[in-house]
Amino acid sequence: MKVFSFANQKGGVGKTTTAVTLAAGLALQEYRTLLIDLDPQGHVAFSFGKEKSSGLYRCVVGGEPLEKEVINVRPNLDILTSDKRTEQVKRHITMSDFRENVMVDLLKSNQYDVVMMDMAPSLDVLHINGLVASDWVIIPTRLDAMAVDGVKEILLTMAEVSRRGYPFEGYSILPTFFDRTTRETLVQFQEIVKAFGSRVWPPIPQDTRTREAPAFGKTLWEYTPNSTVMTGYSNGRTRLGGYQQILKRTMELINE
Ligand SMILES: Nc1ncnc2c1ncn2[C@@H]1O[C@H](COP(=O)(O)OP(=O)(O)OP(=O)(O)O)[C@@H](O)[C@H]1O
Ligand SMILES: [Mg+2]
Repeated sequence: MKVFSFANQKGGVGKTTTAVTLAAGLALQEYRTLLIDLDPQGHVAFSFGKEKSSGLYRCVVGGEPLEKEVINVRPNLDILTSDKRTEQVKRHITMSDFRENVMVDLLKSNQYDVVMMDMAPSLDVLHINGLVASDWVIIPTRLDAMAVDGVKEILLTMAEVSRRGYPFEGYSILPTFFDRTTRETLVQFQEIVKAFGSRVWPPIPQDTRTREAPAFGKTLWEYTPNSTVMTGYSNGRTRLGGYQQILKRTMELINE
């Protein structure tokens, strides 16, 4: 089993979109996949056309088994949901003795090939617990003037988690909202590559179709499989970026 998390303390950078799209893509490739929502906003359930609910709360605070609380949303794809009761999960963790291992314990002995965790735009105990349980962290970032700084912040948090004895296999930085028509995007993309080199994955284009899919309860594979957000953009003869290519990168990590 490989555990990925999608983290960036900044809001609206494409964490949920990326987590939902990659989890759904892996399920289509027949990986048994679990997507856990660690964000009280509950957007994972919404993305699959479901009501938000308290699955995570019932597992962590109520002690219910994971298999009882997951919701099957597509072939090979289950989700564990969040809603505002996830705030109580944080209080519960703060008061418990083994404060760092709650997600690790939850994921012990399950039937999945891959677990993905969509994190909230915050830095709290649940965030730390998610990182502790993660093998690989994917850091989506917008390409604005604060992008490098935001990535550095999450890397500092990860370094602290490693230092406490929970090392990662690695991490990847995923530039999102790439706008070919603005110079700012390109300048910031070059800044990110200068700072983080080969850790940076090919960027995901900005594409208004992306925003529409959750309202229909559809994944991007179902709603708009041939749009630029999925296929990427042309760079001379080759096509670069897009969630199709990012799914391939993710599968390489799982299979290595
Ligand atoms: N490549 C894209 N092009 C256009 N819109 C996008 C793209 N990726 C995501 N969006 C839209 O931008 C909004 C924010 O994206 P998303 O919810 O994935 O970010 P987030 O990092 O999870 O936000 P939060 O920090 O609030 O959890 C959503 O409406 C989403 O549909
Ligand atoms: Mg989100």
